[in-house]
Amino acid sequence: MTISGKALLAGVMGWPVAHSRSPRLHGFWLERYGIDGAYVPLPVAPANLAAALRALPLLGFRGVNLTVPHKEVALALCDEVDPLAHRIGAVNTVVVRDDAKLRGSNTDAFGFLENLREASGWRAADGPAVVIGAGGAARAICVALLEAGVPELRIANRTAERAQSLAAELGAVARAVPWAERGACQAGAALLVNATSLGMAGQPPLDLPLDTLPSEAVVNDIVYAPLETALLAAARARGNPVVDGLGMLLHQARPAFEAWFGVMPAVDEELRRFVLADLGG
Ligand code: ATR
Repeated sequence: MTISGKALLAGVMGWPVAHSRSPRLHGFWLERYGIDGAYVPLPVAPANLAAALRALPLLGFRGVNLTVPHKEVALALCDEVDPLAHRIGAVNTVVVRDDAKLRGSNTDAFGFLENLREASGWRAADGPAVVIGAGGAARAICVALLEAGVPELRIANRTAERAQSLAAELGAVARAVPWAERGACQAGAALLVNATSLGMAGQPPLDLPLDTLPSEAVVNDIVYAPLETALLAAARARGNPVVDGLGMLLHQARPAFEAWFGVMPAVDEELRRFVLADLGG
């Protein structure tokens, strides 16, 4: 769709930014909903982030997404940060308010929960959750699970100190599990999430035994390339319901699109096919 002089403007700031799927994703929705708007890649070096964010209201931008390496630094650069983004420790969405102030939020927790609920019918009260990993993605997922009300959260990470400090920060419901017990700690769990990039094309496989996991537990991998990781294939083969990582990527984009362009966009099969074709899958 061509845009007019009144087009609503948004984009994604990253360094580098060329790998970002967000312009294609938001572009698909702009086209689908017939919105006079544009979403562009904005290569912004770390040293320029503060100036680039401050320029948004001057340029008439509605806001931006932030990707690597800007998400954590941006906490201190926004005028107002949602409590959830504070808790996650990262901002992935900036909205320019009517008074030109910048509001930072994080939509990863929303994206994770929406995808999980929609794809599996999982409910927090179903039982304990096990999260593998303690990096940025794992933090957002752990915060999401606690906000949703899981009764217990077990975090296993190769580097034990990272799991311990994350669990300590999250409070009594969360506890760190030694990496050697990443299999055994699945006993009685209702949800298992791989929140590392292991299993992604070009990365090492995730070495995770599933023999103690109850067969009704939902298994969710945040990796989406390949869509069916070795973890999901193994879980499916033993009868567990599985949820792939593509849905989180798509759902996390929805609240930002709504904030900038005024329509809450839908995730459906057509969008999944469009993005998968883009991924070469
Ligand atoms: P992100 O922000 O994408 O989550 P990250 O902060 O680099 O990225 O976190 C990557 C996660 O994958 C971490 O949990 C990391 O474990 P460490 O904290 O021990 O580094 C995990 N990870 C990466 N490579 C791994 C490997 N070969 N074996 C086990 N865990 C690995």
